[in-house]
Amino acid sequence: MRTFLVICLGLAVSAPAFGGNSAPLADPQLIQWSHAPFETGECEICHESSDPQNPGPIVGTVNQLCFGCHDMFAESIADMANIHSPVEESCTNCHNPHNSSRVKLLNEDIPELCGGCHDDVLAIARNSPVQHQPVLAGQACLKCHDPHASNVKPMLVGLPYDLCVRCHGKDDMKDSEGKPMANLQYLVTHSHMLHGPVADKDCSACHLVHGGENFRMLLKPYPSRFYSPYDAENYELCFSCHEIDAIESQRTTTLTGFRDGSRNLHYVHVDKERRGRTCRACHEVHAAPQDHMIRDGVPYGPRNWILKINYTKTENGGSCAKTCHPTKTYDRTREN
Ligand code: HEC
Ligand code: HEC
Ligand code: HEC
Ligand code: HEC
Ligand code: HEC
Ligand code: HEC
Ligand code: HEC
Ligand code: HEC
Ligand code: HEC
Repeated sequence: MRTFLVICLGLAVSAPAFGGNSAPLADPQLIQWSHAPFETGECEICHESSDPQNPGPIVGTVNQLCFGCHDMFAESIADMANIHSPVEESCTNCHNPHNSSRVKLLNEDIPELCGGCHDDVLAIARNSPVQHQPVLAGQACLKCHDPHASNVKPMLVGLPYDLCVRCHGKDDMKDSEGKPMANLQYLVTHSHMLHGPVADKDCSACHLVHGGENFRMLLKPYPSRFYSPYDAENYELCFSCHEIDAIESQRTTTLTGFRDGSRNLHYVHVDKERRGRTCRACHEVHAAPQDHMIRDGVPYGPRNWILKINYTKTENGGSCAKTCHPTKTYDRTREN
């Protein structure tokens, strides 16, 4: 019997942590954390027998046992709108009831614990061409998700926008290549105009969060540079909400306000075989200091010099001054 038990326990350590792998750790070397009621050696607190060699089955269901002592914990999740289904099923999906090589009696490290069931998310986080550092580093998944229960779907520890600006509300954020990133919180609270989905605090309208295929983890492609040869496929992101013809029609009197008479100036600037200006040349995509999401200036060249756009809105059009070209004015009422 003794030999049998040891073999069992030996297996338990290396087997995947899910589905009834709840035996005490066999190797004392591995034990970093021991649960108080197990430490006492009184197996009958939870099992039918007090014999440590053969404690028999547990008394009641796992969760009934745990809640018997962790009543405050039980109360704290009872009122939550969403309870994580493995928690309802059994605490032993993630915790060893006896001891563990990890804090909080966890069966696995984070993020592997989560990845054991959410392998799709873990694969995205690890293998995507564009990765998001917080998803795998440190507390990883727990920075944004509660493992037990939450009032915000999907199991979030805060409202999505608030979560993003916890980090993206700082001035010194850098991307994976070391380039400075905008302080979104500052932009949103100090801008004259917010982009529709940003005003709705819906970052997910454009960004994935665990990792993605496209520049900046965008849902759809958008060029990464200031100049880009025009190809509608590169602008799928913008065209998923905005009219493609407002950019592609050479002439129009209805599709865009950025026209001189019927000459479509969006077409003139963007739709070029070689050095087409990408939308960022004139628009700040999250929030901007001027009407029509026009930015004050654009970072340019290797040293990120700021080029002032000097945009002025007029009743029937507007003008841009002395930066990319001498002052030019557009007027929608012009006959041409
Ligand atoms: C805090 C409650 C608690 C205490 C105390 C406790 N256990 Fe357990 N034990 C459990 C739970 C819960 C399970 C998982 C049962 C299940 O999944 O059905 C379990 C499972 C086991 C298993 C694995 C059984 C199997 O079939 O997988 C062994 C072996 C075990 N306990 C040994 C002990 C021994 C030995 C003691 C006393 C030294 C002890 N336990 C004390 C809660 C406890
Ligand atoms: C007999 C009372 C009792 C039962 C039953 C019990 N616990 Fe505990 N648990 C405690 C005590 C006391 C502590 C605090 C001391 C410690 O960390 O061991 C604790 C600590 C914990 C911790 C670590 C908390 C921390 O902050 O590090 C976890 C996780 C936990 N229990 C999970 C469970 C689970 C899962 C079950 C059911 C299988 C369970 N407990 C059943 C008494 C109990
Ligand atoms: C999906 C995995 C998962 C399940 C299932 C789960 N837990 Fe946890 N639990 C965790 C993680 C991860 C932590 C560590 C949280 C942290 O460090 O912030 C934790 C921490 C705890 C703690 C320590 C206090 C705290 O909130 O940090 C207690 C107590 C606890 N769990 C009890 C339970 C009980 C009781 C159940 C069953 C009703 C349960 N857990 C089910 C993953 C889980
Ligand atoms: C034992 C398996 C298991 C483990 C471990 C597990 N989960 Fe889950 N999780 C589930 C199941 C099952 C659902 C419900 C799936 C559904 O409703 O589509 C779920 C749902 C979720 C959801 C909500 C999904 C949605 O679309 O609403 C999130 C977020 C989540 N888990 C995150 C985590 C995190 C973070 C961890 C690690 C702390 C974790 N899970 C560990 C099984 C698990
Ligand atoms: C930076 C915050 C953040 C981190 C870190 C994070 N998530 Fe999420 N997660 C979110 C947000 C926000 C959503 C909702 C996305 C949406 O609605 O488009 C989400 C959605 C989910 C979902 C449900 C939808 C889906 O994509 O399947 C699961 C499951 C999930 N996360 C698991 C995880 C796991 C596992 C980890 C760790 C490997 C993790 N998350 C790390 C913020 C985060
Ligand atoms: C815990 C801090 C943290 C949270 C929360 C967080 N981020 Fe990030 N994010 C970072 C860091 C650090 C980087 C830079 C390193 C990198 O590129 O991953 C980054 C990078 C990014 C990037 C640029 C990725 C690239 O390399 O091109 C985008 C886009 C982004 N985050 C969006 C979001 C969104 C949307 C949310 C909310 C759902 C969010 N982040 C929540 C820390 C965070
Ligand atoms: C309408 C689509 C859209 C929405 C909504 C959106 N973003 Fe973006 N985001 C973009 C685009 C496009 C870029 C690339 C901008 C560029 O390089 O000119 C970007 C870039 C970023 C970057 C990199 C910043 C930098 O300075 O390079 C971060 C971080 C980011 N977004 C976070 C967020 C957060 C947080 C939210 C929610 C408040 C959000 N985004 C909402 C489209 C969007
Ligand atoms: C998820 C949908 C969505 C996506 C994706 C999107 N937008 Fe928007 N955009 C809106 C909404 C909603 C408004 C505000 C309603 C309106 O005025 O049309 C808006 C307004 C604008 C405006 C200001 C219009 C004005 O004159 O006031 C500009 C400029 C703009 N978007 C540019 C872009 C660019 C550039 C992209 C691609 C990087 C983009 N949008 C992607 C939804 C979107
Ligand atoms: C050379 C500067 C410039 C570039 C590049 C540019 N825009 Fe604009 N855009 C403007 C100006 C100026 C307006 C305001 C027109 C007005 O007076 O109503 C505008 C207006 C808009 C509007 C509001 C509706 C409309 O057409 O009047 C949208 C949406 C828009 N732009 C999207 C885009 C998208 C998407 C791109 C990239 C594919 C882009 N813009 C590139 C200058 C530019």
